[in-house]
Amino acid sequence: MPKSAFEPSIKDGLTFDDILLQPRFSEVLPRNVDLSTSFSKEISLKIPLLSAAMDTVTESEMAIALAQQGGIGVIHKNMPIERQALEVRAVKRAESWMIEDPFTVTPEMPLHDVVSLMDHYHCGGFPVIDTERKVLGIITSRDIMFEDNHNLAVKEVMTKNNLITAPKGTSINKARKILKQKKIEKLLIIDVKGCLAGLVTAKDIQKKLEHPDATVDERGRLRCAAAVGVSRNTEDRVSALIDAGVDAVVIDTAHAHSKSVVELARKLRKITSNIQFVIGNIGSKEAAKDILKLEPDAIKVGIGPGSICTTRVVAGIGVPQVSAIIECNTEAKAAKVPLIADGGIRYSGDIVKALAVGADSVMLGNLLAGTEESPGESILLEGRRFKIYRAMGSIDAMKQGSADRYFQEEAKKFVPEGIEGIVPYRGKVFEQIYQLTGGTKSGLGYVGAKNINQLRKRARFVKVSSAGLKESHPHDIRITKEAPNYELHRPR
Ligand code: XMP
Repeated sequence: MPKSAFEPSIKDGLTFDDILLQPRFSEVLPRNVDLSTSFSKEISLKIPLLSAAMDTVTESEMAIALAQQGGIGVIHKNMPIERQALEVRAVKRAESWMIEDPFTVTPEMPLHDVVSLMDHYHCGGFPVIDTERKVLGIITSRDIMFEDNHNLAVKEVMTKNNLITAPKGTSINKARKILKQKKIEKLLIIDVKGCLAGLVTAKDIQKKLEHPDATVDERGRLRCAAAVGVSRNTEDRVSALIDAGVDAVVIDTAHAHSKSVVELARKLRKITSNIQFVIGNIGSKEAAKDILKLEPDAIKVGIGPGSICTTRVVAGIGVPQVSAIIECNTEAKAAKVPLIADGGIRYSGDIVKALAVGADSVMLGNLLAGTEESPGESILLEGRRFKIYRAMGSIDAMKQGSADRYFQEEAKKFVPEGIEGIVPYRGKVFEQIYQLTGGTKSGLGYVGAKNINQLRKRARFVKVSSAGLKESHPHDIRITKEAPNYELHRPR
């Protein structure tokens, strides 16, 4: 019999601490586990990790570091359109097989200007071209090193004889061979007319070899996503991001299952037809059904699980994250749309649980905010290093521009849905990723799963009592030596 309005039916809601995976017979060693997954319909990742679109988490430095490791970063939008586009450009320029539009100099430029450009762009040399882009030579730091007179023009010192070039279309392997044989660091690529078509550098090739798992586009450039909100200038922002080469646009709001987001998504779907388009956040089956009708390339799930969120206590709204993933996952899998679990990940074990209940990737705020590459300010407190981490719904972040995420763009005084604080300094992104993926691979190994698909098939869950949770953490001991994946000073 249906319950009356006065006798509401209340569902159970579970989150990461409420469940554990049972170990199963295994022939899989953690080192043989493959964590490849999909970020969106068209973008695959070697590791299922994303960095949050937050102003103390993801700008270009974080996005570069994470894409190099096989994940992807979502550049936050708490900055002017032009600056966000610049951040995207910085990621897209960071690595590639060939630089298609290298910085160039003219033959008349004085050497002191060339030196300034080298410092500014951290480049060791530039192609020298005329007004029609015809290649005249190359100037590198080696040409300038022993030259005392920096008033000389480029044409007087550049290398122009026996210039080593390769035709447009030269494969990366061929270019590598030429660099090796000729013992040079930069190879000029020219078209049939002798005009500059690109530059292959030993440094870029080295970077490629160092990051074999990197998330790259068809031109070998690191992939990058960027967030937008429901704002008056969102369409301009999206156009600027697309011009900058962004791979995915993420509509990032606290409640995607709402009229204004749906209307915006309909408009944006048209201008984003060539790039991936992600919509979030949602937390129920009903929302997943409606949002999937907008044909997103991925959906993002998480209402209030974040470590800095206060939505659940301020608004009384939210769905414990494991239940939210399970609810949305049935719909997402039927539509073959990848699901991103956003927020609430505190340990690598939570990543395993999120993947096991259906997430294709997880988005991390807190766990990456403490790394060297996050834009958050670094502080020293009682002899330890911390970094500032703040919610996008905190007063200061909203003042800076994120109020639209909480539908408060027009408000004179904000009602915050998040707080600001500090997290322990956690070293470089690659060190943190090593621990997180290491723990995740270990989890799959215990279940006997070689990959994420097998994990879902083999996963058996147990519900944990509060006594069970206490037992799960170190107990009856005073920790005297911290582990890199279990910090003493992490508040529970
Ligand atoms: P973690 O747990 O990784 O969560 O720190 C990061 C995610 O939290 C979300 N976020 C917020 N949620 N109020 C909220 O309710 C906020 O002010 C807020 N700021 C960020 C966001 O989805 C992020 O990825």
